[in-house]
Amino acid sequence: MAEIIVQDKLFHLRNARMSYIFRLTGDGLPAHVYWGARLETLQSPLDRLYFESREEDYCHNTMELEKLPQEYPTYGHGDLGRGAVELTAADGSTAVDLVYTGHRVIEGKPALTGLPASFDQSGKARTLEISFADALLGVKVILLYTVFDDCDIIARSAKIVNESGSPITLDRVMSASVDLYDAEWELITLSGAWARERMIDRRPLAPGFQGVDSARGDSSAQNNPFMALVRRTTDECHGEALGFALMYSGNHTELVQVALNRTARCQLGLNDAHFRWLLEPGETFQAPEALLAWSENGLNGMSAQYHRLVKEHVVRGKFAHAQRPFLLNNWEATVFDFDEEKILNIARRGKEAGLEMFVLDDGWFGHRNDDHSSLGDWQVNLKKLPHGMDGLADRIHALGMKFGLWFEPEMVSPDSDLYRAHPDWCLHQPGRARTEQRFQLTLDMSRPDVCEYVENAVAAILDTAAIDYVKWDMNRDMSPVGSALLPPERQAETAHRYMLGLYSVLEHLTARFPDVLFESCASGGNRFDLGMMYYMPQAWCSDNTDAGYRVLIQYGTSLVFPQSTMGAHVSHAPNWQTGRMSPLKTRVNVAMWGTFGYEMDLKELNEQQFAETQADIAYMKAHRDLLLYGDSYRLKSPFEGDTAAWMVVSPDQNGAVVTAVRMSSHPNERRERLRLNGLAPEKLYHIEELDTDLTGQELMHFGLPLAFEPGDYRSLRFTLETK
Ligand code: GLA
Repeated sequence: MAEIIVQDKLFHLRNARMSYIFRLTGDGLPAHVYWGARLETLQSPLDRLYFESREEDYCHNTMELEKLPQEYPTYGHGDLGRGAVELTAADGSTAVDLVYTGHRVIEGKPALTGLPASFDQSGKARTLEISFADALLGVKVILLYTVFDDCDIIARSAKIVNESGSPITLDRVMSASVDLYDAEWELITLSGAWARERMIDRRPLAPGFQGVDSARGDSSAQNNPFMALVRRTTDECHGEALGFALMYSGNHTELVQVALNRTARCQLGLNDAHFRWLLEPGETFQAPEALLAWSENGLNGMSAQYHRLVKEHVVRGKFAHAQRPFLLNNWEATVFDFDEEKILNIARRGKEAGLEMFVLDDGWFGHRNDDHSSLGDWQVNLKKLPHGMDGLADRIHALGMKFGLWFEPEMVSPDSDLYRAHPDWCLHQPGRARTEQRFQLTLDMSRPDVCEYVENAVAAILDTAAIDYVKWDMNRDMSPVGSALLPPERQAETAHRYMLGLYSVLEHLTARFPDVLFESCASGGNRFDLGMMYYMPQAWCSDNTDAGYRVLIQYGTSLVFPQSTMGAHVSHAPNWQTGRMSPLKTRVNVAMWGTFGYEMDLKELNEQQFAETQADIAYMKAHRDLLLYGDSYRLKSPFEGDTAAWMVVSPDQNGAVVTAVRMSSHPNERRERLRLNGLAPEKLYHIEELDTDLTGQELMHFGLPLAFEPGDYRSLRFTLETK
């Protein structure tokens, strides 16, 4: 059971493994004390031994404050770092001075109004709600801290309430801020671009500001809303690791400020670029949730906390713990060039191979024969699909497959009936060109009328055809952002209001269609975040399906997200993005580390490859629970060497699948040794591919030999089962 102990102005949040502690200073400021392995007790003045000044010197309106590690710092009464909340009062003043006013401990985990948030169904999580106020401004700040029982994560969020008689403008609102005692950390981020998302980047902290952000309207492929701080010696299995992930799908910031005395202020929340929020008297602003993970068992240890969080406290609905159908998507096979007959032929071959669902991708609506038109006009193109969507869905079902459909609901093509009828419905700023990307504009989801249209358009199709799965795509960045409906003083609210509108549409649709499996997508992995996962249990990792690159993308993604969320498909070689050839076996082994499927026309495979594919799909079916929901461990990083390896272990430690990929062939080399993880040391495992029995201890300490065939992008798979 998680617990929150409040004693002598000390707030101690802990579970069986971790403690997070802060206290109030004499005049009511929250000071950060400790975040690490569980402490049974804390002699109350212990943290004060670290400070140069006397406790009474750390109070409001002394410049000593910047040396005090804090929990939610503000500007204008001594601290000189970046404030967690920055605002402008009606008189133009910007100082904020928060003083403790009260707290309560709540059983469980409250929801956040209008935003995705982690939840707890075990009854074992505990939440501290603690309030602060600036009496002069009449502003209240309410911080939430939840400690979970089963994962070493603190969920934090902040709510700002204007209790004054005048409007205030919020310029910056962080979801969480933590001042760490030292700056001897390295910063890890998941950065990249379209088609090479979530590459692991690691660098030592330096004085000043560092971190990542997105001001692109989506959480972005450029910088995932996540950072980790690790010690120099931390690796996959050893050492301290702190994770900071934001449950949000729009503009965000993850920032570390290394200050004069080598402390590290870590903050994350909404990006303040192009952001301002007018808070009228009586109004409340809710910041998104931040999820702070701790581990002393390296990056795998940190990932295990996030994976458990996602599986138990983020993903909702009937698919949260259910199997996902192995799917066949036609995008890379046909692009826009298909008709019903072609689709049915592709689906039939998929069924013969053993696949369970056919997904019709882009191009089924309006007159969309390329990406120049029709987004927004969600009417079935009867030239391509003469029996309508219901007719196609019925025919696919008659093959014994489920049926899924692609939408890109947040977008509008200038060449569409929707745009001609409502030119003001897209994001834009008056007098400025409407910047197109992929020949499309972004619908203004900050508008209730647009949200209603989007919801009804999607629901209309889902109501008329038997659809089991929706791929919800979003294929452009947002710029310039502005809304025709908001007054000038609220224009800078548009980007966040967009996300609130989108979240409400997703809430309604997923509640109305609980049997539909939703997969999120944004030009591949532009919105691979905890916010989307609250509504959609899985997300398309990347438009790059090249196995060689996917190893990197999925390895990086797994830092935060479990394999049950990572859309991963086998596709044609040479790959259409990279031109790279990789063996079918490797493409399968890599796609197995995710929600499995195919993104190709299986008729292209020769008889031998097709038979191999049937066997692969049968293998996936035999091990589907283990592969989808087992505990995963990264074993060798492709960011550090030429070999990538990972494994998945069943919760009872009776089964495991291990995969290794070698990027390039090296002649005359000794075989690499792969030490496994997560097994029961005393159990005896049979390794199918080697026809050998080894104990968990042998496998974890001595390891398996990696006998790759010569050639680039070769892979090995080992299936372990206890005797
Ligand atoms: C995006 C998606 C792809 C595909 C295309 C269709 O790029 O990431 O998977 O759906 O759109 O236009």
